[in-house]
Amino acid sequence: MKVDVLLGLQWGDEGKGKIVDVLTPNYSVVSRFQGGPNAGHTLEFENQKYVLRSVPSGIFQGGKVNVIGNGVVLDPALFKAEIEQLEQSGHELTQRLYISRKAHLILPTHRLLDAALEAAKGKGKIGTTGKGIGPTYTDKTSRNGLRVGDIENNFEEKYAAAIARHKEMLSHYDFQYDLEPIEKEWLAGIEKLKQFKFVDSEHFVNKTLSEGKRVLAEGAQGTMLDVDFGSYPFVTSSNTICAGACTGLGVAPNKIGEVFGIFKAYCTRVGSGPFPTELFDEVGEELRKLGHEFGAVTGRPRRCGWVDLVALKYAVMINGVTQLIMMKSDVMDQFPTIKACVAYKVNGVETKDMPFDINEGVEPIYREFPGWKVDMTKMTSESQFPEEYKNYIKFIEEYLGVPVKYVSVGPDREQTIAR
Ligand code: GDP
Ligand code: IMO
Ligand code: MG
Repeated sequence: MKVDVLLGLQWGDEGKGKIVDVLTPNYSVVSRFQGGPNAGHTLEFENQKYVLRSVPSGIFQGGKVNVIGNGVVLDPALFKAEIEQLEQSGHELTQRLYISRKAHLILPTHRLLDAALEAAKGKGKIGTTGKGIGPTYTDKTSRNGLRVGDIENNFEEKYAAAIARHKEMLSHYDFQYDLEPIEKEWLAGIEKLKQFKFVDSEHFVNKTLSEGKRVLAEGAQGTMLDVDFGSYPFVTSSNTICAGACTGLGVAPNKIGEVFGIFKAYCTRVGSGPFPTELFDEVGEELRKLGHEFGAVTGRPRRCGWVDLVALKYAVMINGVTQLIMMKSDVMDQFPTIKACVAYKVNGVETKDMPFDINEGVEPIYREFPGWKVDMTKMTSESQFPEEYKNYIKFIEEYLGVPVKYVSVGPDREQTIAR
């Protein structure tokens, strides 16, 4: 069998959590492959709402095994809080949530370094989630990181050395901090982590496949936040793209099966950085209000704009998307007109290709569509779609060259239509 991958095609928050939950019944194992608690994946069913940060979104469907892969960075303190919240709502995970020994640990000082680095950047700040993501991946790449597997072996010594190194780094910034309380919480998190099964997840995932069982890889963030192909430097610090599933789980490229690319019928972004189709008018305000576009992790208002097909086409290419999933069409239900960006004008020249840098001077060129002006939230089949909506989807499919296989018309698990 192969690993199917579900990933975001925009700047994150496309609705990955909801769809992973919907698809989970088709799989034996669900595994996160990158990112960390910068993610906030929301699921809704039976009038309950859950926000997952580090735990994969396949935990609510019939006792499936969920894996935190080697490409993930894990904060024990936040992990503990997340697990305890799930336990309080009756979800016991110690027997079916496995953690890769090769996943890197976010140390309390990584969070401090994230804050210090952001403060030092001043106006040029990335607008990170403040979860220590960048400094942790930096330590991984510079070969200084601590991994989950280190907890089993000489941990105190390794931890002390890392903290001393970080303290020295922090001394170069004009940055006040109190390490003690967060360190205490963090060490309690390590104890919680020890209740879970640490695995060599690359072996586990490949063995699962060779037994003829299906694995779903869950991405975090989105393609436009990818450290190589996103709107650099306003990106996260991991490979959010399909190739990230290979490195983040230890599966070979020829073991990748379907690639589900998920996007909103419009577009959002949190934090700083370019966003060619961003709306600063009342339409943007409507999208934010009707779409409840406020960060699941930070509560920050998300920036809103029209769908950007130039960026989506680029994302489809980079990821080898085989099936598209379109989310939140219901948010635009009452809009008289809907726009989609079909090209950019860069220095006066029109292009459909993603330029090297979209940080400056990119003007979106739009195509307008009549709105459908029908409540879609209770629809259950494609046959109920209004003509205007069918035309909108058809245009997107033709532009991107990939079929839209699922449409989501509300936050609940049930509000999902397969085509
Ligand atoms: P993720 O990070 O990709 O998992 O997405 P988030 O959970 O951060 O953000 C998606 C938000 O949209 C959540 O609040 C979901 O409950 C909500 N949502 C998902 N699909 C739909 C949909 O089709 N319609 C509406 N109105 N809300 C949706
Ligand atoms: P999910 O998985 C939206 C953004 C931050 C910031 C940039 C870098 O829920 O889609 P980081 O803390 O990663 O160093 O921040 O990336 N960002 C996200 N935006 N959804 C996310 O995750 C994000 N994770 C990081 O806002 O602009
Ligand atoms: Mg999110």
